[in-house]
Amino acid sequence: MTTQGSDGGATRGTARTGVASGGAWEAAHRESLEDPEAFWMRAARDVRWIRRPTSALDPAADAAEGSALPRWFRGATLSTAFNCLDRHVIAGRGEQPALVHHSAYTGERLTLTYAELLDHSARLAGTLRELGVGKGDRVVVYLPMVPEAVVAMLACARIGAVHSVVFGGFAAAELAARIDDAQPVVVLTASCGLEPTRVVEYMPLLEAALARAEHAPAHCVVLQRPQARAELVPGRDLDWREATRPGAAPPAECVEVAATDPLYVLHTSGTTGRPKGVVRDHGGHAVALTWSVPNLFGLEPGDVVLTASDVGWVVGHSYIVYGPLLAGCTTVLYEGKPVGTPDAGALWRAVAEHGASVLLTAPTAVRAIRAQDPDLALAAEHDLSSLQALYLAGERLDPDTWAWAGEHLGVPVVDNWWQTETGWPIACSPRGLQELPLRPGSPSVPSPGYDVRVLDSAGQEVPPGVEGALCLTLPLPPGTLAGVWGGDEVLRASSLDAHPGYYVTGDGGFVDDDGYVHVLGRTDDVISVAGHRLSAGQLEAAVVGHPDVAECAVIGVADPLKGQEPRALVVLAGGTTTSPQDVAAQVVQRVREEVGPFAALRRVDVVAALPKTRSGKLLRKTLREIADGVDAVVPSTIEDRSVLEDLRPVLRG
Ligand code: COA
Ligand code: AMP
Repeated sequence: MTTQGSDGGATRGTARTGVASGGAWEAAHRESLEDPEAFWMRAARDVRWIRRPTSALDPAADAAEGSALPRWFRGATLSTAFNCLDRHVIAGRGEQPALVHHSAYTGERLTLTYAELLDHSARLAGTLRELGVGKGDRVVVYLPMVPEAVVAMLACARIGAVHSVVFGGFAAAELAARIDDAQPVVVLTASCGLEPTRVVEYMPLLEAALARAEHAPAHCVVLQRPQARAELVPGRDLDWREATRPGAAPPAECVEVAATDPLYVLHTSGTTGRPKGVVRDHGGHAVALTWSVPNLFGLEPGDVVLTASDVGWVVGHSYIVYGPLLAGCTTVLYEGKPVGTPDAGALWRAVAEHGASVLLTAPTAVRAIRAQDPDLALAAEHDLSSLQALYLAGERLDPDTWAWAGEHLGVPVVDNWWQTETGWPIACSPRGLQELPLRPGSPSVPSPGYDVRVLDSAGQEVPPGVEGALCLTLPLPPGTLAGVWGGDEVLRASSLDAHPGYYVTGDGGFVDDDGYVHVLGRTDDVISVAGHRLSAGQLEAAVVGHPDVAECAVIGVADPLKGQEPRALVVLAGGTTTSPQDVAAQVVQRVREEVGPFAALRRVDVVAALPKTRSGKLLRKTLREIADGVDAVVPSTIEDRSVLEDLRPVLRG
């Protein structure tokens, strides 16, 4: 089966038995690991290159450069924007819808054809160029789910600028951290975003972020929306529509970039309080996503994809924007929630209205729909005959939700497991290659290119069915992270050093006898709230910033709707005169203002002390286990067991 290499890494290859053996998936997976050069060079033929790649991998060049991870398609050049837009227009598909904006808040619908999306992005690219943005320069995109968000990303790609999209739910401090990390020449933003109960004004958040940030962008281009208009700062700010009106600046042509040049930086929560900027390159990304859309999602050019996520997350980057457009599909940009905008039938309405073949969203969205429409009566009001499959990603899909959705919708419900770092599914039933039986609680088999191994704490592989750390042997496939913005030390420390030869995903789980992967949860302090990734450290940094808090622990506890929700335990500073109730309320508000409301910290308990090891490490895992009502393993290194015992009633309450 699998063997340990002399460097400690595993020998790549597959030996599968059972339901997944002997078909197209196994052949593709085997070849991708045993002969990645042949597999990915063939996949690369579906991308239009300016200078074609002569090899997929070049270990000697990687070693000479000292890059932490292998680089794909060195020496090749291309334009991602050309592959997303121009090539389809040149091929005579200019009149095909590329992007459909569906706002469940305003009722507005807007369709942009491939030719129109090309025109809009070329004009914005021209404006950016006039504002001094060149190849390799960064542009921060802080926009709600409006067509301009897609235009912005493609405009950056067009001129070789690196976009850094910040989710609209992040508050000023998180936006400031991303601005300081990316150091953008320009920020692209809007006057407001829409939420079910309020209009979220973006400019005050951006101003607060700029006041905190050390870096100052030269310009901000602001999309004025009618729900709230923003005051523009003369000299710094430009009105989006004026700045990009026809004739304002010469539209930009596609710029040739190296396959290894960065397309974007997307920050995610690591284990510390500081966001980690995942870097995606052009060449590997274009090849992997172009390959994944037909093979994993079973989609063809012209098919309609509805990915109900947000452009600020990796799911949005890959399957709202780049994947569907690279593959010549129509992508639906859904501005709204799965429930409450106005009802739990909103996503079915959008599927039916646009004829979507695939709906990709988070399990939380399905749980929210189920809570309000347990018999899925609202789906029956719509013609869902176009829907071929429901894909769910971003958090664990519990078997109950999986079974309910499959039974009521009558289409395959495809759990797929991946992360910001990988950019596309690590494990997913590859419906375009082969219909494999689906299993509750499992995102099925590893995608071609991914060699999933389960290691124990000593780095040894465990037998099928035994839990351990889910790791991927190196090299990771194309389209996965090229590195971390600002240096790879964080990446080495968090994901590579623990087990040489492997990338450690941070997830725990097992692989069963048939090679199906089962993901059970994070092994680190990452918290998943409604599929949104947050770190304990990030939330704790906001909590301890409160002047009356001496120390705190934030843990993610099980939540039937959102998967997990954060809870804070705080120890008050000596001599404080503020009441515990007031501190708790202020901490909740502080997290909204520092991290963002989507973090949804609602429960704060003031406690006498926090349990730690003798070396001072917080016992978050033990706290989480007690709160979740599972048998908590109390480390023998605990400093004072009575502290933990005192907390039990609080945690269980
Ligand atoms: N901008 C500003 N605020 C935002 C925001 C955004 N982009 N997204 C969320 N928020 C705010 C909400 O307005 C809300 O604020 P409030 O506390 O003042 O009401 C808070 O963050 C929490 O919002 P949300 O996460 O939407 O939770 P909810 O309880 O209002 O709704 C669900 C529950 C299930 C409908 C919602 O969590 C959901 O749509 N989940 C699916 C998640 C998803 O698609 N994830 C993608 C990962 S692939
Ligand atoms: P993000 O980087 O925000 O996409 O979050 C990635 C993390 O979400 C993963 O490391 C997992 O912990 C979790 N995750 C994503 N998809 C799944 C899935 N299908 N099953 C279980 N966990 C998942």
